Order: sequence, then C-alpha cells, then structure tokens
Amino acid sequence: MTPEDFRRHGHQLIDLIADYRQSVEQRPVMAQVAPGYLKAALPSAAPQHGEPFASLLDDVQRLLMPGLSHWQHPQFYGYFPSNASLPSVLGDMLSTGLGVLGLSWQSSPALSELEETTLDWLRQLFGLSSQWSGVIQDTASTSTLVALICARERASGYALARGGVQAQAAPLIVYASAHAHSSVDKAALLAGFGRDNIRLIATDEHFAMRPAALQAAIADDLARGNQPCAIVATCGTTATTALDPLTPVGQIAQAHGLWLHVDAAMAGSAMILPECRWMWEGIELADSLVVNAHKWLGVAFDCSLYYVRDPQHLIRVMSTNPSYLQSAVDAEVKNLRDWGIPLGRRFRALKLWFLLRSEGVEALQQRLRRDLDNARWLAEQVAASPDWQLLAPVHLQTLCLRHCPPGVEGAALEQHTRDWAQRLNDSGQAYVTPAQLDGQWMVRVSIGALPTEREHVAQLWTALQAVVR
Ligand SMILES: Cc1ncc(COP(=O)(O)O)c(C=O)c1O
Repeated sequence: MTPEDFRRHGHQLIDLIADYRQSVEQRPVMAQVAPGYLKAALPSAAPQHGEPFASLLDDVQRLLMPGLSHWQHPQFYGYFPSNASLPSVLGDMLSTGLGVLGLSWQSSPALSELEETTLDWLRQLFGLSSQWSGVIQDTASTSTLVALICARERASGYALARGGVQAQAAPLIVYASAHAHSSVDKAALLAGFGRDNIRLIATDEHFAMRPAALQAAIADDLARGNQPCAIVATCGTTATTALDPLTPVGQIAQAHGLWLHVDAAMAGSAMILPECRWMWEGIELADSLVVNAHKWLGVAFDCSLYYVRDPQHLIRVMSTNPSYLQSAVDAEVKNLRDWGIPLGRRFRALKLWFLLRSEGVEALQQRLRRDLDNARWLAEQVAASPDWQLLAPVHLQTLCLRHCPPGVEGAALEQHTRDWAQRLNDSGQAYVTPAQLDGQWMVRVSIGALPTEREHVAQLWTALQAVVR
C-alpha cells in the first residue's frame, strides 16, 4: 500500500467508523451470533495474494459487524464503560501511523516527554500531591502486578538479586478484600506469593474492607512467623463500586511497614470531580495506585495510569540496561522501559493528549456528572418500586439490582434473575451484566457510555420493568 493508497483507504475507514458511531443505536447491543460463526465463514489459511481493500471493508461489514457487542452503544450497561472517545481514537491512529517505539528516551523523545507531561496533568486533575509520578501501563492487571513485584522486592530487601522469593525464610503475605478484582489474585500468584499467602479480608455491609479484620489477619500472620508484605485496597470494586476505607487501611500499612497499592481502576476517573475525592480520602498513604483512563474517562483502550511515590524503587526493580539501549543523556531523562515490564512502548500518551486537548477538562467533568445524575435517577426509580431491590450503595454510576416478585425466593429467585437478564440481553435492547454478589445472582447496570443520555436510561427502566413480567 503506497501512502497515496493509504490516504484513499484511510478516508474510507474513517467514514466507516463515523457511520458506525452515528448509527450504532440501531444495532442490537449484544452480538446475536452463535459460537464458531466467524471461523466457519473465514478461509482456513491466509490468502496467497493480496486482495482489494474494498473486499476487506466489505467483510468488516458483512462478517465482523454482526459479531460485535457494541460497547459504544447508548444502551450498553455491561461490565463498565469503556469509552473510546473519538479524539482519542484519532490519537490512537496517529500513534500507530507514526509507528515509533519508546525503548528509551532517545528512541522517541516526544513519546517519553508527552507521557510524562500528560500523566502529570492527570495527577493534578485527580487532586494528587506532587509526590506522585506516573507512567502508562496497558491494563490495571499489569499495574497491579508491577505494584506487587515492587512490594515483594521492598519487603525482601531485593530478593531478586539473590535467590528470589524461593530463598525467603518466611512467606510474604498479601492482603486484599474479598471483593477485590480477580486481577489482584492473579498478580499475587504471578508475582510468586502463592495461593497460600493471599488473605481475603472480610467486608462490611457495604462490601468494603473491614480494617479490624485486616489488623487481625496481620497479627495472626506475625504470630505464625509469616511476613506481611502488601495490602491492595480497592476504590470502586468491580461488583458494587465499594470503597475500601483508605485512611485506616493506610494507617495499618504504615504501622507495619507494608506496601499499600490502591486499585482505583474504575472509580479513579471520578477523581477529576472534586466532590468525589472523599471516596479515596487517605490516598496519600498509598505507595502505588492505578486508574484506568480507558474506562469511564474516555481514552480508547488501552491506557492504564500507574502512579508511584518512589520511582527510584520502581526503576531499581524493573530496570535492565543493555549496552544497545544506553545513550549519552540517560542521566537527564526518564527511560520509561524501567517503569514497567515491557521494553517496547507505544505512543499511548497521544490518545490521552488528544482527549484532554480536544474536550477540555470541563466537558469531561460535565459528562461524568451527567452519568452520576443518571445513576441517581435510576436508583430513585428502583427504590420507589416495591418489587425491586438495590443491593449496594450507588456511589458512582453502577447499580446492583434484583427483582423480587412476591412469593419468588431461593432457587426460583436465582433462576428468575438470570432469566430476565438473559432475556434483556438477547432482546438487543440493552446490555447488562448478571453477576453473583455474596453467592446470589443480581444484575449490574453500569451507566456511563459516551452517548447514554437520560432518555436512554429512562428507556432502560421501561425495558427492565417489561422484561421481568
Ligand atoms: C476494580 C478493577 N480492577 C481491575 C480491573 C481490571 O482492569 P484491566 O482490564 O485494565 O486489567 C477492573 C476491570 O474490570 C476493575 O473493575
């Protein structure tokens, strides 16, 4: 493809994306296809000869589109909002089009410095002190893995330079609430802590970590000769957006010299609203935190913001310094390969920069406030309806619902809940996520897709009432 061909096809592709966004509301939200539908339609081997670009675009429309569940649809209330705002889509395209890699500052100086600058803009927008330095990771899962590796190395006095965790005299222990995301468990396992050394701390009636239970678990480990190492607290749990109390948890971490990592993957976006910052009061007691800008904030996936208070420790744990990556300016610059696991780095800051510059902070704040209002409105409708239950406080934009018709209990209620969620998703009118909360089925409604206005949430409420009948 020559640059001239690229220009032509690029215009067609942009038209396709713009048309898709304009008309997405007319599509069923959840893909209506059966497993294997695409594999059966595609050839079993790659083409020997190039094909016209038009036939590729035809296949996107004909074969791929029916197999998409539409996250950018105004009736998408599944999982969490993953808003690919259009300016950030353009930033992402530019990143790919420029095709540069940040192996070191010198390999693409603008890449490193734009990342440093935009992460500092976000730090200020989140109301964090100047003690924090940030870097972009692909996902919160990776950010939490990096955090737990750093915690492990601090607690073990850099065991990686000796026999690693295998040579530790006492097992290192990680604490998280029973409602922490599965990525915390996974990170602890991958960082070598071992299943036996992960403690799931009990939660209160609002699904938030109980500091007293945390304290007791640490005391128990100390009495057994184990070495408490790290606490992962969550600001906005996946199921219910519960808020672990960071001040008492942070005080416990400090009293015992433990690493505190805060998973604010979901709720972190709301910290651009000063009125929401009470949710992570105590954040300054943490050692590391993660906010997924690729969720509610609007940066196209993937863009996970990882902040640390002690970058020197991060660099010591993560750095490698082969001769071919050294440069004359290393002492004056940040080499972001030393701030995480991969060596290669995409120009991800572009999509963040495009979003912030194109929308401006006020518009982002306004959109998040709209979503908070919509969630409050729906919560009021549910609370006023006798057969419906709200199962958790609505701190942000997620509602946990159950429809409990008179006389339907136990296994029948479980079946009823799963059935109506399935009927709603199958209908294509809206997309919600059934999930278990303390062992019982409920339905999560996660508001906050870019095009979701009050009228859409009102339509959802009508659809919910109809589908349970
Ligand atoms: C609280 C929380 N932490 C972590 C994650 C994982 O995010 P990622 O897909 O970026 O690894 C999620 C995503 O759903 C989440 O809600």
